[in-house]
This record gives sequence, C-alpha cells and structure tokens, in this order.
Amino acid sequence: MEKVQSDLAKVIRERRSVKNGYTDKEVPASLVKELLEDARWAPTHGMREPWRFIFISSERKSSFVEDFVSLFPKDQQEQKRETFNRPAAFLFAVMNEDPRQKQWEENFAAISCMLQNFQLLAWERDLGVCWKTPPQINDPKFREMMGVQPGEKIVGFIHLGYFDQEPKQKTRKPVDDIFSTY
Ligand SMILES: Cc1cc2nc3c(=O)[nH]c(=O)nc-3n(C[C@H](O)[C@H](O)[C@H](O)COP(=O)(O)O)c2cc1C
Repeated sequence: MEKVQSDLAKVIRERRSVKNGYTDKEVPASLVKELLEDARWAPTHGMREPWRFIFISSERKSSFVEDFVSLFPKDQQEQKRETFNRPAAFLFAVMNEDPRQKQWEENFAAISCMLQNFQLLAWERDLGVCWKTPPQINDPKFREMMGVQPGEKIVGFIHLGYFDQEPKQKTRKPVDDIFSTY
C-alpha cells in the first residue's frame, strides 16, 4: 500500500468520475456556485480567465433533456431521454477560443485546470461529477440551443448528482514508467 501524504493527495487519488447510480437528490445552484468560487483560482495565463458556465438545475433538467434529445434521430430519442434524465443536474463549461494558437492552448489548459479543481471540490462535498465530451458539444444546432457564441467552445458537458455507491477504484501507470531524466 502506497503512503498517502496529505488531505489533498487523498482527494486527488480517491476522486472518481461518477457515471451512473445518481440519486434524485437536488443539486442546488448555490452549491455549484460555491464550488466555482474556489475552482476559479486555477492558473490562467495573462489572467484571461477564459471560461463561463451554464447550469441546468434539477428543476430545468427534463425541459433541457427534451430539447437535447430532439437533436437525435427519432429511433434513438427514447433511449437518450432515459440516459440523460439519470444525472440530477448538468453544468456546461464554455471556453473563450483565442484566435492565436498559443493562447488557445493556454485557455484550454486553464479551463481544464479549473474543471479538475471543480471535480476535486465536488468530491470533497460528496457530489458526483463526470466530465463528458459527447460529439454534440460541437454540433452547431446544440451550440445554438445553448447560446454558445462564435469564438466559444463547449469543453465539458458535466453530469452532476449525488450517489450511493462509489465507483470502483481505477489504476494508473506507475511513475517509473512515465518518468525519465535528461
Ligand atoms: C477531457 C475529458 C473528457 C471525458 N469525456 C468523457 C465522456 O465523454 N464520457 C465518459 O463516460 N467519461 C468521460 N471522461 C471521464 C473519464 O472516462 C474518466 O476520467 C476516466 O475513466 C478515469 O476515471 P476516474 O475519473 O474515475 O479516475 C472524460 C474525462 C476527461 C478528462
């Protein structure tokens, strides 16, 4: 058993993506905002803070899911409706796309750091999160539905919900396999 050094290391190691088994318990907007208050202290080059977030509450979920499933072929809609009604709420992470490549990459890295902060903070509060990137995040019809503007990119379709059963622990490559010296 490897020695875990700190509370932070413990949360980093124990956090899991929660992909199913969500309960019906509501995810309050106030909690999501509280988590974002801390998560936004992620590193961000040029202090661009290239992000915004769209929350879909438990109350608004079924209306969102109806709009979302209408983008799928008719014969898939019932199954998609069932699948997307499982999480209790959603959060969309939207990045500002800088036209300059280096700044675009920095913005993508910064929002990814912010999202990992969010995932860790949520885990600490027993809120399940799964950062998802289905193809629809790049579908012009879906972007329009979400009010995403040219020059913005949906980076995460984040599923949220409380859960009863922790997902099984996953393994990672040993550090010796990914570490070398110059
Ligand atoms: C950028 C990104 C995109 C992801 N997209 C999906 C996805 O579309 N569907 C999904 O089930 N999981 C997605 N995941 C979650 C990964 O599958 C998950 O992190 C991985 O299986 C490791 O599990 P863990 O997070 O519990 O350690 C994504 C994770 C990241 C970082």
